[in-house]
Amino acid sequence: MATDVHRPVSPAATRAAKAVHVEGLTRSFDGRAVIDDLRLGIEPGEFVALLGASGCGKSTLLRVLAGLDRDIEGTVLVPRRRAVAFQAPRLMPWKKVWRNVLLGLPGRPERAVAERALDEVGLGHRGNTWPRTLSGGEAQRASLARALVREPDLLLLDEPFGALDALTRIKAQRLVGELWQRRGCAVLLVTHDVEEAVLLADRVLVMDGGRIAHEQRIDLDRPREITDPGFAGLRAALLERLGVRTGPEAS
Ligand SMILES: Nc1ncnc2c1ncn2[C@@H]1O[C@H](COP(=O)(O)OP(=O)(O)OP(=O)(O)O)[C@@H](O)[C@H]1O
Ligand SMILES: [Mg+2]
Repeated sequence: MATDVHRPVSPAATRAAKAVHVEGLTRSFDGRAVIDDLRLGIEPGEFVALLGASGCGKSTLLRVLAGLDRDIEGTVLVPRRRAVAFQAPRLMPWKKVWRNVLLGLPGRPERAVAERALDEVGLGHRGNTWPRTLSGGEAQRASLARALVREPDLLLLDEPFGALDALTRIKAQRLVGELWQRRGCAVLLVTHDVEEAVLLADRVLVMDGGRIAHEQRIDLDRPREITDPGFAGLRAALLERLGVRTGPEAS
């Protein structure tokens, strides 16, 4: 796996074996450290969900890992092949859907590459349409297809289902779970939804004070349902970490 290195200290074989290796990462805005000496490791093929209060620095961390923000201190090792999908699908309205999927890809990729990725997200029939004719869920899937054509070793997702209605969201979550299992890439999913995190992730991280303040391994069998034994306990423990009390005393 090719690796991009920002400001390396001393590359070691153990670090190279990780999909993500972050050490001593600090990112400040106007003298305020939003990310403060953060450490993070993600294994190849691991699905990690990142929770944390609004404004705690989740998107900032994702942007750093995506290579969109290099104004940092510390070490960040990430695979060269990585892709990002944001909460808003960010499709160019003047380009057909299939052209949006190929946008920014190096070389002159053939339309069939886009069509295959669109097929994978259930949009094989919509490649030749305009983005404005897509529903919110379809646009989000097109955005996922755009990430997939990059054949990422690391897929970075920033609240990709945040704007979807409940039913579409459940379908999109299932789709991401299937794509991850098929592709075998590492995933870092930023979400506000604790259930989504427990449904999908191998490990859930909670960010606070500019660092990863807590981590929870999720050992439930897949495919998971929120009715599984063990699910409620994990959900409650994570909500408590996020400062949300559950149970009869909460109201
Ligand atoms: N370009 C910037 N200039 C100044 N401050 C910024 C910039 N980008 C982010 N910040 C600040 O950094 C903090 C963290 O922002 P970030 O977007 O990473 O939070 P977040 O955890 O993703 O929040 P949310 O859950 O609401 O999306 C916020 O206080 C934000 O105002
Ligand atoms: Mg954010």
